[in-house]
Amino acid sequence: MKLAVVGGGSTYTPELIDGLLSNAFGIDEITLVDPDADRLEVVAGFARRMVGAAGKATRITATDDLDQGVDGAGAVLVQLRVGGQKTRLSDETFPHACGCLGQETTGAGGFAKALRTVPVMRDIASRVDPDTWIVDFTNPVGIVTRSLLDAGHKAVGLCNVAINFQRNFAGLLDVDPGRVGLRHVGLNHLSWETAVYLDGEDVLPSLLAARAEELAERFRITPEHLRLQGAVPSYYLRYYYAHDVVVAEQQTERPRAEVVSDVEQELLALYRDESVVTKPEALQNRGGRHYSLAAINLVASLLQDSRDVQVVNVRNRGTLPFLPDEAVIEAASTITAAGPEPLPIGPVDPLLRGLIAHTAAYEELAVDAALHGGRDRVVKALLAHPLVGQYALAEGLADRLLAENARFLPWA
Ligand code: G6P
Ligand code: MN
Repeated sequence: MKLAVVGGGSTYTPELIDGLLSNAFGIDEITLVDPDADRLEVVAGFARRMVGAAGKATRITATDDLDQGVDGAGAVLVQLRVGGQKTRLSDETFPHACGCLGQETTGAGGFAKALRTVPVMRDIASRVDPDTWIVDFTNPVGIVTRSLLDAGHKAVGLCNVAINFQRNFAGLLDVDPGRVGLRHVGLNHLSWETAVYLDGEDVLPSLLAARAEELAERFRITPEHLRLQGAVPSYYLRYYYAHDVVVAEQQTERPRAEVVSDVEQELLALYRDESVVTKPEALQNRGGRHYSLAAINLVASLLQDSRDVQVVNVRNRGTLPFLPDEAVIEAASTITAAGPEPLPIGPVDPLLRGLIAHTAAYEELAVDAALHGGRDRVVKALLAHPLVGQYALAEGLADRLLAENARFLPWA
């Protein structure tokens, strides 16, 4: 079976190849699809060396023709960045003029990315066979996945935050990650672990009681705040709970887009080096480390109807009763061939519930703005965002966002 990877020229692709080499579940061809011919050649060449060095027979093919690439694929993974790291730099900096967070998936920067990305993703999805699963890593994953589901596509959104939590807790507990389960609550990049199961038993209360300092250090939160939460927020929550501190840090720190550009140059040089045949260590410097594991587990379970539990982005369908059924949540779900079925979550602390509902409403408006355009829709979505909320701020951010992204938004 063929697996298509749209955005296959990404420097992340060897991460995926590495994962597939250990668990190929009948995939005998991986097609890398990318409009950037140079990147594609370098990444595909390296992927072939990785496969060869592992003594496997998987065929790596490459094309800049999307229709050809997705034709006949058993599943399509999409991992792209409209506008590349240059545009990420804009997302990370334009909100600063308004005293707001500059981040690639959160706040006004994440919204800019959504506006650029949703139409491109909808176009790609429309070229995929309607019976084929689309696994979306393309950020902002919650908004993009929702836009694909709204159009009737078979789409699942994926992020590595939960799998990294699982591995992190396993390290803390000194056990195999397979023994650790999570009650993962919220949306993509707005999530909390409200229970941590070891062999089915919730050990989070005892960890909070006995090892709060250690937990706090590991998850970048103060012990007092952690105790108050009674749950472990993902590091993306820092952009909310410490917004002003982060904005101040961003004034002096090098933007992440620049750091990542350097890492990418280093990686591409290694990928070009014929003597390099295994996944380089430098890939660990990217936030998406271990994402291949999550991706491969998900594709394997969707295709094989494995019915195991994985954290994915899926329609709410009553799981969080305070959200509309159509909202996309990030939740532990049983993965079947017919799609993920979110497991019940139970009551959610109002501290979490308020922010989740607020952000879900923004996401709904963000999809609308991305599909239909217009300054009013942009201002409205920003006004609805919990990190914006003031009308003058929403207007100021909207004008900057539109000016920065005009070449990607035909209506702007
Ligand atoms: C995490 C997030 C991804 C995001 C990445 C950024 O893995 O889950 O959605 O793309 O971090 O990492 P980067 O190395 O690009 O800053
Ligand atoms: Mn993510």
